[in-house]
Amino acid sequence: MQIFAHRGYSSKYPENTLAAFQAAAKLDITGVELDVHLTKDRELVVIHDEKINRTSNGKGFVKDMTLKELRKFDFGSWFHKNFRGEKIPTLAEVLDLFKDTHHKINIELKSDKLIYPGLEEMVLKEVENFRLKDRVIISSFDHEAVKRMVGLAPDIESAPLFSYSILNMKWYRTLFPAKALHVAYRAVARRPVLEAIKAGIPVRVYTINNKEQVEVLRHLGVEGIFTDCPEEMNEMLKQP
Ligand code: G3P
Ligand code: CA
Repeated sequence: MQIFAHRGYSSKYPENTLAAFQAAAKLDITGVELDVHLTKDRELVVIHDEKINRTSNGKGFVKDMTLKELRKFDFGSWFHKNFRGEKIPTLAEVLDLFKDTHHKINIELKSDKLIYPGLEEMVLKEVENFRLKDRVIISSFDHEAVKRMVGLAPDIESAPLFSYSILNMKWYRTLFPAKALHVAYRAVARRPVLEAIKAGIPVRVYTINNKEQVEVLRHLGVEGIFTDCPEEMNEMLKQP
């Protein structure tokens, strides 16, 4: 089963920081997952929330700050004092880290409430700069963004994201030729997901941090998981 370090090695390092991605890069796992937003000066930065409040010592929306302003904040101390001074990374910095490894990189386009015009084109350009098209998976809860990415780069693996509430067959069918399906654990037993597995479409599930859930997913034939504990899950999956 494929293992993706969710937001980097986020159980032991502050999520979506270079420290979390460097730690994940040392592991023999399938890849990493990360989230991108756009700054006020249209730089691609790696962070989960649209605001910096939860994961830094600052406050406010990413979209209202320039990269220079964002770099002043500490994105490590909220997690542990050992990570004091950790900066918000750009997408380029994270891609650079993985350019010579074997890892896949799942870039989640974040536009849950905000719209970032041109986000898909910018991400694609960065991926092409690093010649990583064959190792990147683009996903989003914004299915229009997935469709735009499929239109721009049909050869890149793309995956709509579904949580239980929005999962339905109609959307699922309109999203082909998205090449994979990423779903919440609670959605995994729903009919469209089971049909996708049966049809051989790669289904990956978030966020899996315990053995019991892994067993259920193995049984169902799920292709991969996103986990905050990649090392632990890797050890576990090596056992027969
Ligand atoms: O891509 C899987 C997962 O990361 C989606 O949820 O909220 O952790 O970005 P979230
Ligand atoms: Ca994510």
